[in-house]
Amino acid sequence: MQKQNDIVLEIKNLNIFYGAIHAVKGISIKVPKGKIVTLIGANGAGKTSTLSAIAGMVKPKEGEIIYKNNNIAGKSPHEINRMGIALVPEGRRIFPNLTVYENLMMGAFNRKDKEEIERDLNWVYNLFPRLKERLKQLGGTLSGGEQQMLAISRALMSRPDVIMMDEPSLGLAPVLVSEVFDIIKVINENGGTILLVEQNAAQALKISHYGYVLETGNIILENNSDLLLKDENVQKAYLGMA
Ligand SMILES: Nc1ncnc2c1ncn2[C@@H]1O[C@H](COP(=O)(O)OP(=O)(O)O)[C@@H](O)[C@H]1O
Ligand SMILES: [Mg+2]
Repeated sequence: MQKQNDIVLEIKNLNIFYGAIHAVKGISIKVPKGKIVTLIGANGAGKTSTLSAIAGMVKPKEGEIIYKNNNIAGKSPHEINRMGIALVPEGRRIFPNLTVYENLMMGAFNRKDKEEIERDLNWVYNLFPRLKERLKQLGGTLSGGEQQMLAISRALMSRPDVIMMDEPSLGLAPVLVSEVFDIIKVINENGGTILLVEQNAAQALKISHYGYVLETGNIILENNSDLLLKDENVQKAYLGMA
């Protein structure tokens, strides 16, 4: 089990239904400050639903989402973002008809601290020099990898305390997959707390501190990531080892 202190986000007994479908069946997750926590699991396991509930986009039927000692379950996405939780959604949903710069500033729309926004822009340009070269380009004209970088950058521009990423490596060429995982590591090394959802279990566990394995709405296993990597059942089911 993880240490109780420094837990910034805690999900307790989360239950999510879509009509009669019980998609998430009473899961509990802890995210300690400054750590990367990974949820792995096959398609349909309930990973996106869990992140959507934390972000306020799906209303859980039961359970608590405790963030900095407040139960945020049922609050609006806007309010939750303002409190410091940002989501990089599945499928890199950027604004295709806005420029790269405008997309970035959309991430900062809750903020008024001009100088700090400027500083964060520079940190994002530093992370992703390719975006800096394309500030006036429309988001929709970027390559898939560049759009994913923009989606991550936009989330960073809200200066979140917790950043959630839903399958950030999905559909990217292998070289870009490595780049995305490198960036996640750098964000974490700069103090970012990250809740990561991935089907690419091997790479996700390699960069994360703690992991949960979701199967059809249940957590079937949780442990330090290095131990999950060595777990025989995880190796068989998620790491493609015989
Ligand atoms: N909007 C929705 N309406 C109905 N069923 C949904 C909806 N979103 C997800 N589901 C169902 O909930 C289950 C979990 O889905 P999801 O959270 O997207 O899983 P994952 O992200 O792990 O692939 C699946 O059975 C999926 O079909
Ligand atoms: Mg999903």
